[in-house]
Amino acid sequence: MNKSLETQRMEKIVSLCKRRGFIFQSSEIYGGLNGCWDYGPLGVELKRNLKNYWWRVMVHERENIVGMDGSILMNRAVWKASGHEDTFTDPMVDCRSCKARLRADQVIDKKGIQQCPNCGGKDLTAPRAFNLMFKTFVGATEDESSVTYLRPETAQSIFVQFKNVLEVSRKKLPFGIAQIGKAFRNEINPRNFTFRSREFEQMELEYFCREEEGIKWLDYWLEERLKFYENIGISRAKLHAHEIPDEERAFYSKGTYDIEYDFPFGRQELEGVAYRTDYDLQQHIKASGKPLDYFDEETKQRFVPHVVEPSAGVDRTVLALICEAYDEDTAPDEKGKLETRVVLRFHPRMAPIKCSVLPLLKNNEQLVAKAKEIGDLLRPHMNVFYDETGAIGRRYRRQDEIGTPFAVTVDFETLGEKDRALQDTVTLRDRDSMKQERVRITELVSILTSRVC
Ligand code: GAP
Repeated sequence: MNKSLETQRMEKIVSLCKRRGFIFQSSEIYGGLNGCWDYGPLGVELKRNLKNYWWRVMVHERENIVGMDGSILMNRAVWKASGHEDTFTDPMVDCRSCKARLRADQVIDKKGIQQCPNCGGKDLTAPRAFNLMFKTFVGATEDESSVTYLRPETAQSIFVQFKNVLEVSRKKLPFGIAQIGKAFRNEINPRNFTFRSREFEQMELEYFCREEEGIKWLDYWLEERLKFYENIGISRAKLHAHEIPDEERAFYSKGTYDIEYDFPFGRQELEGVAYRTDYDLQQHIKASGKPLDYFDEETKQRFVPHVVEPSAGVDRTVLALICEAYDEDTAPDEKGKLETRVVLRFHPRMAPIKCSVLPLLKNNEQLVAKAKEIGDLLRPHMNVFYDETGAIGRRYRRQDEIGTPFAVTVDFETLGEKDRALQDTVTLRDRDSMKQERVRITELVSILTSRVC
């Protein structure tokens, strides 16, 4: 069977991620652990750029949002109150023929007959509820009294710390609490590379507001979040705001949108933007007996705020960034013959390495010394990569393939050998246009920082 272009594209992306050190299989030398991934030297930079940018625009640039960093393990009572212990489940079906365990929505329905998507078998069990939380024990005894779970979302620590954060930050409604952190779900079928993982990170904001303004803030955050994805280089044409119909929404939500992206494997959710009403705070008030409310100084009213929650996945967004950036074009090789060039067209803001610094020749002490000096000059401002091995064209290709937007080359003109006026200038190459401009070394920091911020 011919593989579709999109399947081939995804295979190339997965292979590039491993080959160039973006993403590795977790515990690879032991055969891996399904649904778990490790980020290599480039992946960790990409991920960090994403999280830092999210934090910048969601927390630092907003007067009414503060951050927190909650623990992964919490009192089991949290998960009882939130409803996760009883209802955070996926319906699961077993295929008796090939023994595959499937999510019920993956079963194929052919003219009313249910079939296993793996082997085509029709001998399937009835759906059973499977709780997605990872169970663990706290302390030395492994019994019911010591059970808790790895958190399946970061949101609950925000709700249970609502009162503490409100008191210390002295914010007035509307205000938000943001958090980035790990979450764990024992997904029945992890798949599509990192898209559905068992361990992943979330970037969540709980935005507390008055009930009468809930829908207004839902619409506001949907637009803000769509802009965010555009600002990190995801094209608007590949983003979709899908309004979840009443019958599919969580019963407590008065409106939910999924922000979806056209991955090579199909249109899939990147983020949920949900108006969760006052459900979570009310649940914790009931279960803990503590007053998680808000006192309005002006009206002298006490009430439980409503919440709008934009909840994004770090790993899914990293994957979307890589899928969006992957491109192949043609460029001349050393002899001027056109060859295929693989290029990751990351937005400079997201690129793991912002600039490579390349002496034209490795065996010329002056070129090497000058290039190292430039590397040291840039390093306090951005992530820089110094490379002296191989022909210059090859070095450009290696950087194109990992998405480095700029390359500085130190050549004989830099040394002033051909023209004194060009001394202490370098070429600055643009990854996408492959055009080169000649700039003064003294201007490099300001030119580059303005292009990568
Ligand atoms: N607090 C709300 C919440 O957790 P969710 O829609 O279940 O809502 C939010 O998750 C986001 O977390 C998703 O849009 C997705 O980006 C990410 N996410 C959820 N499950 C994931 C998984 N198994 N692997 C990777 N990311 C996941």
